[in-house]
Amino acid sequence: MATLDSAVAGAPDIPQVSLRNVHLSFGSNEVLKGIDLDVGRGRAVSIIGPSGSGKSTILRCLTGLLTPQGGAITVSGTRVDLLRAEPERIELRKRVGFVFQQYNLFPHLTVLQNLVVAPLRVLGRDRAGAESDARRLLQRVRLEDKIHAYPGELSGGQQQRVAIARALAMHPELILFDEVTSALDPETVGEVLTVIRELVDEGMTCVLVTHEMQFAEEISDEVYFTEAGRIVEHGPARQLFRSPASDRTRAFLARALNNPGKGEASAPLHPYDRQQALRLKLFAV
Ligand SMILES: Nc1ncnc2c1ncn2[C@@H]1O[C@H](COP(=O)(O)OP(=O)(O)O)[C@@H](O)[C@H]1O
Ligand SMILES: [Mg+2]
Repeated sequence: MATLDSAVAGAPDIPQVSLRNVHLSFGSNEVLKGIDLDVGRGRAVSIIGPSGSGKSTILRCLTGLLTPQGGAITVSGTRVDLLRAEPERIELRKRVGFVFQQYNLFPHLTVLQNLVVAPLRVLGRDRAGAESDARRLLQRVRLEDKIHAYPGELSGGQQQRVAIARALAMHPELILFDEVTSALDPETVGEVLTVIRELVDEGMTCVLVTHEMQFAEEISDEVYFTEAGRIVEHGPARQLFRSPASDRTRAFLARALNNPGKGEASAPLHPYDRQQALRLKLFAV
């Protein structure tokens, strides 16, 4: 489909996402202390690390929701850190899918309506095209039988799969996943991970913040371990998980692997995130 075609098109050796020496503070709280990170086209990169280490902040920077005080951020050739006008940021958010821990579907709209609202309003698609796209995406996340259901009638895992389909409906060039399984009942985590795994296999560029260590090892080309606003180390998934260079990575992994599926308790959604999620719902996902 077009989404994946556009994800794999272009030069594979130029990173689709790159951060260089990115610094970001909230007041006196320095949250990102010089982040360098690259994601190649069609690659899957995971960011792991303790709660509060800056993982979500990195993702928010990629969509222009936060502007760093220093450094450079490039997404598909756009210098995101230099965008100042809101219309430019909205253009960027059309190209970057973002799936959150809280799926934030519109409760008063059916699954189908949730999937077509942004393509109709933001991309100006025609209804017939947007609806046939939505049906195809629902097949892909195995929810075609829920097309006329309301979010409240679905399990958490099903709602999260709708949220992924909604992100795909915008034909993004890459998708960011921020702890999308952390709030789910354990029995529905697998179905969501399966959908993400398929996207990765099909060549969608994905950046994932996750506590699912086994999953991260299995699907990621590259893994970054963050702590206190720094990248402690990064490398091919197998290397980072099996023979980490840093004692800090080793200690984190030991803790995480002793609490499979949980890792560090994830922080509740920041009010700022709620506000941004509501905006994104209309303008980017
Ligand atoms: N909008 C905000 N305003 C002030 N502080 C924030 C904001 N967002 C995040 N922070 C702070 O930045 C730090 C990193 O947060 P975050 O990126 O959410 O970490 P992680 O995703 O790794 O758990 C935390 O100390 C958090 O409290
Ligand atoms: Mg976070």
